[in-house]
Amino acid sequence: MAYRLLDLPTARPARARHAARAARVEPVAGRIGAAVTGVRLCGGLDDGTARLLRRALLRHKVLFFRGQGHLCGSDQTALAAIFGEPSAPVVQPGCAVSRYAGGGGWHTDGSDTMRPPGVSVLHALSVPPFGGDTVWANTAAAYDGLPVELREIADRLWIEHAGPDGVLEHPLATVHPETGERVLLLGAHARRVAGLSAEADAGALIRLFQDHVTALENTVRWRWRPGDVVVWDNRSTQHRDVRDVGEDGAGERRLRLVTCAGSVPLPLLPRS
Ligand SMILES: [Fe+2]
Repeated sequence: MAYRLLDLPTARPARARHAARAARVEPVAGRIGAAVTGVRLCGGLDDGTARLLRRALLRHKVLFFRGQGHLCGSDQTALAAIFGEPSAPVVQPGCAVSRYAGGGGWHTDGSDTMRPPGVSVLHALSVPPFGGDTVWANTAAAYDGLPVELREIADRLWIEHAGPDGVLEHPLATVHPETGERVLLLGAHARRVAGLSAEADAGALIRLFQDHVTALENTVRWRWRPGDVVVWDNRSTQHRDVRDVGEDGAGERRLRLVTCAGSVPLPLLPRS
């Protein structure tokens, strides 16, 4: 099911056509994730390749690039810029959420903020020889897989997300601003169901929907190598680190993150 860019404008320079035609996108799991080959991220991308990557990201949710060497921060920022307004690059040992979410839990980046990032771009500077994988889950497939009775509940619930700067509410079921897909917004920041005072019931509801997100059929797992670049659509995924290496091994993992500005998650229904 690999595909190439076939709809380049004929006026595009020959070099750009060659660059885009070399790119291949091949799914690596049934519902989420694709490997991109034939693209060098160092030195900028032509318009045709950028268009291919934008389309592939919306379709596959996560794009994996092997063997990109040591990508400088400006190249990583330039890649992020084809998906949105990029942040400054930040080097970190893993995912920043794990500092306060209790150890690498499933999450959508920045769900404890009013405008979670739209797209995240992570580059592996150094990784342990084994372990420390990352797993992503497709939250649109999770919504699609819900029985209709649970969809009707999901469409009406609002969830409190807690972070270091406080608590705010997002709809549980939201509309992807580019694809129109319906997705579930939950993860490690989700604390309570808004308006539901019974904490046990709220916890049970959150776990019920979260379990649909992280069903193995909705996931893809990536074994990092130095030089890898992974781009994910933060609006339709969750991810988590696999904490299966000791403190020594974890110390070897250095990743550089650039995120793209996102928008306020939109509910499916007006809030009652
Ligand atoms: Fe993260």
